[in-house]
This record gives sequence, C-alpha cells and structure tokens, in this order.
Amino acid sequence: MAPTAVIPDFSTYPGIKILPPATPKKDSDNLPLESTEPNPIAPLRAALVSEATPLAVRFRALFSLKHHASEQPPTLYTLPAIHAIAAALSSPSTLLKHELAYCLGQTSNLAAVPFLKTVLEDRGEDAMCRHEAAEALGALGDWKSLGLLKDFRDEAGEAKVVRETCEVAVGRIEWEHSAKRKVERLQTSDFTSIDPAPPLALGTHQHTIEELQKQLLDTCLSLFDRYRAMFALRDLSSPPDLPTAVPAVKALASGFSDPSALFRHEIAFVFGQLSHPASIPSLIATLCNSKEENMVRHEAAEALGSLGDEEGVEDILRGFLDDPEQVVRESVVVALDMANFEKNGEREYAVLPEELGFSPLAKIK
Ligand SMILES: [Fe+2]
Ligand SMILES: [Fe+2]
Repeated sequence: MAPTAVIPDFSTYPGIKILPPATPKKDSDNLPLESTEPNPIAPLRAALVSEATPLAVRFRALFSLKHHASEQPPTLYTLPAIHAIAAALSSPSTLLKHELAYCLGQTSNLAAVPFLKTVLEDRGEDAMCRHEAAEALGALGDWKSLGLLKDFRDEAGEAKVVRETCEVAVGRIEWEHSAKRKVERLQTSDFTSIDPAPPLALGTHQHTIEELQKQLLDTCLSLFDRYRAMFALRDLSSPPDLPTAVPAVKALASGFSDPSALFRHEIAFVFGQLSHPASIPSLIATLCNSKEENMVRHEAAEALGSLGDEEGVEDILRGFLDDPEQVVRESVVVALDMANFEKNGEREYAVLPEELGFSPLAKIK
C-alpha cells in the first residue's frame, strides 16, 4: 500500500489551522500559486518552528515533514518540507535541533547539505547538534562534503564527538563511492534508516556473534569498521524471536563500556530501533548513571521510550522528568509521548500508517 500523508491533530493548539492531506503529483521547488490543493507543509512548519508549541507536538510535526522531505521521487512538497525542517534550526532546544539534523540526513536529498554544513561549521553550536549534522552529511553520501568532514576529523582542538563522527562520515562516503561497495552483498535489513555505516558484507563465511562482538569492541579498528559489526549485530537481533536476538543484544550491550561516548550513544540508538526487552537493564543503567555523557543518557531515555509498554519502564522514565540536564528532561518528555502513542495505537502520530510498520521511535535519533 502506498504511504498516505496524515496531518497530526493539532486542534488543541491555538493558531494552527488543520488542513486535510493532499497527494502532490509533480516535483517543484515552490507550491503552484494557482493550486487549489491544500498545502500540508504550512501548518506543520508553523507547529515546528514555534517555541510556543509543546515539544512533543513539534516532534510529531517534524516526523510528518520528514516524510514529505524524504519522498522518492521528490514531490511538490519535498523542498518546502526540507526548508521547513531547516527553519527550526534556530531553536534553542539542542534536542530538537539535533533531531532536525538527523531528519535532514535521512532525506537522501542533497538540498539538505547547505543547512547541515552551516550547523557543523558553527563552533558555537552544541557538539551534539554538530555531531548529528556531520553524521547526516555522511548519510547523504555527499562527496563534496568530504573535504569539510576531513578538516574537522583532523582538527586537534575539535570536540571528540565531532571528530569521531566526521571520521565515520568520511568512511561512509568513501565506502558509498567505492568499487568495493558495488560487489558487496548486504543482508536486507528490517530497518529503513540510513545508518552511519552499513552492516558487514555477507561472505562465504557467516560471522558468528562472538566474531562480531570481537570486531565491535576492538578499539584498534576504525570506528567505521566497528560500526559495521554493530549494525550486523543489530540485524541479527531482529525480529526479536530470532534465535540470535538475545545473544546479539547482549553483545551490543557490552559496547556500553567503550571509551567513546559517540560509540556508546550509537549502541543506545540501535537499542531504540530494536525495542528488545533484553536491552532494558543496560539502558536503565546508562540513564541512571549521572556521570555518563548527556548525549548517551538522552539516547538511552529515548530507547526506553520504545520499550514503554514493558513493565516498569514508563515509571523509570518519569523519574527523570526533572533531571538536571535539559536534553535528558526533554528526551523523557518526547519518549513518554511516543510510548503513549505506541500503547494507544493512535494512527496520527506522524505520517505513515501501521501497514508500513511505521514506528516513530524507530526513526528517532
Ligand atoms: Fe547522534
Ligand atoms: Fe540523539
């Protein structure tokens, strides 16, 4: 079934006009003036950019815009949606901004590149947002961004999380444009996200969980190669009743002891995608560890949101609504909202119907 655009219900938020969705038929930068079709982007943009809109509603608007921004082939609304997402980059919320950058990176549309470069180049911007912008440039596979990414990768005074993300993004772009990639056989994944690295290629020899865990934890290898083992383990963890799922989740959880905060936050992200109950103890331990980096705790909170229907998880999340760190507090608000959506089976969280297996938490970064 083709995806159907659904406008979230903003009726309880004053000033946001509700318009029914429409299916555009042609690609264009601008909406035609003569069009009588309602414009689905305007109310979503209004909700997203307003600091008066509750954060959870802004996230719902963002996921709807992301759907339009990622349409392949692009539609009439693709570029307006990319511009709407970029317009919210002036928000003071680090959590929202990093999610905007992530979503721009998932569009497969190079029109997002200039916005992401601006975020990465802004040394006054929070490192979590700059990291996400660098990762997004890697996800877009933009060859022309290689020079910029290499510069930040090699800059000694740069934040470690930015340098490491640039290292992975360079690895991804070079891989995407390599001859090696053309002959690699990759397993079909349950996940539609464009990841910082592809899973390890399938070969004549099937990697065991132990081998993948060894590669995952080997700090002598490049982060890109370690991420390839991470995403291979993720794919062995889904669906959750796969015989390899629990051992693979446990192998992934061992990555929480890695010295790199970037690496640890990616483990938490993968757990958010998987929603596997076996990941709960390590996610709770990560969220509860006040010495852990905010970026990692934030990702653990959101991953726990994807497990909100498991006993006790929502109560644990609620315990962090007053966390001293803003990005953790805000993550808990969004995670609880989405957990609620998952539990109630609402159809209007964002844009895609359940028929496509859409889960907002699987998309969140
Ligand atoms: Fe991230
Ligand atoms: Fe994140």
